Amino acid sequence: RDGTGVVSSCQAVPLLLCGLRQLEYRGYDSCGIAVLDRDIQVRRSCGKVATLSELVSSEGGALRGNVGIAHTRWATHGVPKVENAHPICVGKVAVVHNGVVENYPSIRERLEGSGSRFSTDTDTEVIPHLVESLLQAGLSPRHAVRKALEEIEGNFAVIFMLAGYNSLLATCRMLPIVVGQGPYANLVSSDEYVLSKYAQRICYLKDNHIAEISLNDVKIYNESDEALNYETILIRTPNTNTDKAPYDHFMLKEIHEQPGVIRNTINQFISCESVEFACDANLFKSLTHLTIVGSGSSYMAGLIAKYWLESIANIRVLLSIASEFRYHRMQISENDVFLFISQSGETADTLAALRHAKRQNGTVISLTNVPRNSMENISDIALKISQDRKCVVAQSTYKQLFEALQCMAQHASEALVTSIEPVADLILHYNRVIIMGRGTCYGVALEAALKIRELSYIHTIGIASGELKHGSIALVDESLPVVAIAPYNETFTKNLVSIQEVSARKGMVVAFTDGKGARKLKHLCKAIVELPETNAFSLPIVYTIAAQLLAYRIAVKKGLDADQPRNLAKSVTVE
Ligand code: G6P
Repeated sequence: RDGTGVVSSCQAVPLLLCGLRQLEYRGYDSCGIAVLDRDIQVRRSCGKVATLSELVSSEGGALRGNVGIAHTRWATHGVPKVENAHPICVGKVAVVHNGVVENYPSIRERLEGSGSRFSTDTDTEVIPHLVESLLQAGLSPRHAVRKALEEIEGNFAVIFMLAGYNSLLATCRMLPIVVGQGPYANLVSSDEYVLSKYAQRICYLKDNHIAEISLNDVKIYNESDEALNYETILIRTPNTNTDKAPYDHFMLKEIHEQPGVIRNTINQFISCESVEFACDANLFKSLTHLTIVGSGSSYMAGLIAKYWLESIANIRVLLSIASEFRYHRMQISENDVFLFISQSGETADTLAALRHAKRQNGTVISLTNVPRNSMENISDIALKISQDRKCVVAQSTYKQLFEALQCMAQHASEALVTSIEPVADLILHYNRVIIMGRGTCYGVALEAALKIRELSYIHTIGIASGELKHGSIALVDESLPVVAIAPYNETFTKNLVSIQEVSARKGMVVAFTDGKGARKLKHLCKAIVELPETNAFSLPIVYTIAAQLLAYRIAVKKGLDADQPRNLAKSVTVE
């Protein structure tokens, strides 16, 4: 659920629709726009932005105005239906909102008690109601917004458009709001990327400050209502190709981009025969333990990193799912180092965990894909840590690890040509799947299960192979395929035992393995995905790419939209 606002010298609608298309990855349950004509005009629809665009086009340009706001929603309170879509308009006040109003039941009860009528099931609706009642009590728009938000508990980013008032107002608490200035329009959004087409300079709003955005000016006020001079910075223009061609889906494109991304990332840090980082080496010298925190696939990446850090750098790694982190109630001091992993750098659960660690003076490192996001960008990898710590990594081992890193991209490209069709054809007919792995392949199994669940809606669980016998084996029968991630490495013999346990119970096994493993597993498996033999670093990457391809192919064969799985948002900015 994310919003954009624009005050332009030309029509706002095309700019808003363009912004919505760019925001759609953050949620696509429903969306809407509102423009300021003589009064506020709102258009909302369920589903994708394309549906809203059609609705607007069908009016043949009737929706006009230079000031407007737009929103794409991922439902938290209230089912995805047109009435619950944003902008939400009450009297003279229209609002788009990201975040959750945690105390909305009590505010709503109070407002209803004094005669307000609510038209949605959302937490958001209390915001325009509060502002509207304060405007009626005679407050100026800015003061009404400030006073209303003082009542709100929770994190938010909100943009307001008011009838009869040609400026937008925006404010935030713990969630990003970016204000942009361009030659034809001033804009505001929860995402910098959305502004890149129309704005040249931007600034990130600080918590509880209010931005007043008009055509010729942007004014920002602090909590004491003093006007401030914010420094603006040049906007970052996305250097990624936003077209999916020649691929059918963005997901397939992203899978194929991985070798290039790995190559570029590693090349940034490798020079001649060593690995170089621009970060404080002292940090790692005395490090004995590290806590890795992330959500979704980033958590799985952390799980794989745990095996590397522990075996190569001799650092004990604790792992935490971001949304659970604060409940561990661990005592944190500055000697505790935390690594937060988030591709977007915006995931609310991970951000909240990061703030929790920082508040208690923990040392925080964040590893993200996007520069200038809400988390801080200090990244590192296991090999460098081991070098700084001067722990017992023999020169020959170091050389081996170094070479392994260098050929990771090559191995990732080889994984892209995996023959996955027969296994996709097999699995798509089942409703339940278990995926199991051991060591770093436990992380691969979890990630594979997540991707199959999210893309093809098959109930897939990922488990550590050794855990099979401790419960999940009860699920095994002819109607449940078990996918074993079983490379021919030091875990193979133990994986073989788990595979045999499945076959002994008439379960069907599909193995992801290499040539050597395939020869040993042929007689036990219904199908085998044969992958290149690789080193320990490349291995989880190669197997993950093959699993991603499998999830993608199953989804496509089932006629599902791999780019926009139902109920999901690609970046979840609410806790
Ligand atoms: C969402 C996405 C997942 C992603 C997770 C964490 O739930 O659907 O694919 O892994 O967020 O995202 P992050 O940007 O923090 O890595």
